[in-house]
Amino acid sequence: MFPHTRLRRLRKNSAIRGMLADPMPEPSKLVWPTFVVEGSGVKDEISSMPGQHRYSVDTLLGDVDRLLESGVRSVMLFGVVDGAHKSSDAAYALRDDAVVQRAVVELKRRFPELFVFTDICVCEYTSHGHCGIFSEEGEVLNDPTLELLSKMAVSHTSAGADAVAPSAMMDGQVAAIREALDGNGFQDALIMSYSTKFASSMYGPFRAAADSAPASGDRKSYQADFRNSAAALRESELDESEGADILMVKPALFYLDLISEIKRRSLLPLAAYNVSGEYSMLIASAERGWGDLTMMVRESIAAMARAGTDIIITYWANGYMEILKG
Ligand code: PBG
Ligand code: ZN
Repeated sequence: MFPHTRLRRLRKNSAIRGMLADPMPEPSKLVWPTFVVEGSGVKDEISSMPGQHRYSVDTLLGDVDRLLESGVRSVMLFGVVDGAHKSSDAAYALRDDAVVQRAVVELKRRFPELFVFTDICVCEYTSHGHCGIFSEEGEVLNDPTLELLSKMAVSHTSAGADAVAPSAMMDGQVAAIREALDGNGFQDALIMSYSTKFASSMYGPFRAAADSAPASGDRKSYQADFRNSAAALRESELDESEGADILMVKPALFYLDLISEIKRRSLLPLAAYNVSGEYSMLIASAERGWGDLTMMVRESIAAMARAGTDIIITYWANGYMEILKG
């Protein structure tokens, strides 16, 4: 009790503070989500996400080389295609020569040690921008979408993806994908489920980057409602029972309570997806002179680690060394 106990003694200088500091996550805990497009020689900065780019496969190789040198050993790929490759049934997404599949082949050929996740969802490839088959009545149909997601997962895994990450929030998607992978001889491919994924307003910069915003309506009938925490927990529980290898909470920073709750309830590894809006808001704030970017990023990454994540999926991954030094 005060005056004998003085907690300020434990932080009187930088050396003692350093001794007592929880470690920042190693770069090996990070996954870099990134965007691939058709063509060659393309490296377009995404205006809603400064520091992030849309890459053609050839230019992606160079930046992944640098990523590996910095100690980050994993990427998660999203395909970005133009209108000509979009259709109501997302047929392009299933082609073995689609842009993500080709990127996986090239990345694994050049960097066999790189761990490659691919996002499994069709909103980047549907003309209506929804994450599944869309009925004439304007509903996203659950069960017919499962086959699409399963085929996409098999195609990505055949290309060499180490793990697939279904993000469509269709009921039964993990079980359907597991069965399809096993049926095709891909018992070793992991499923990292976007198990607790919210209908969030923090995906805006990503949707601008991937051209994947729904043309009409919203995703509230399939993504979780942030006002219903019981259902949000059940989503992860159910995906565990369907055979997910890794669970995920997305977004991360507004849901640290659920990250620690899911970590407490499950022994599965848990990932947090530090989404585009969480990335860009710190940049926007720093640009206005309202905070030091590096220090804000460090604080946010420390928070995700403290909440109990094993894996942090973050756009900060490709500059993490500078952030750690900062
Ligand atoms: C596709 C998908 C989205 C994100 C990851 N996968 C967008 C969405 O659900 O609309 C968002 C990622 C981010 O904001 O960084 N289903
Ligand atoms: Zn989607």
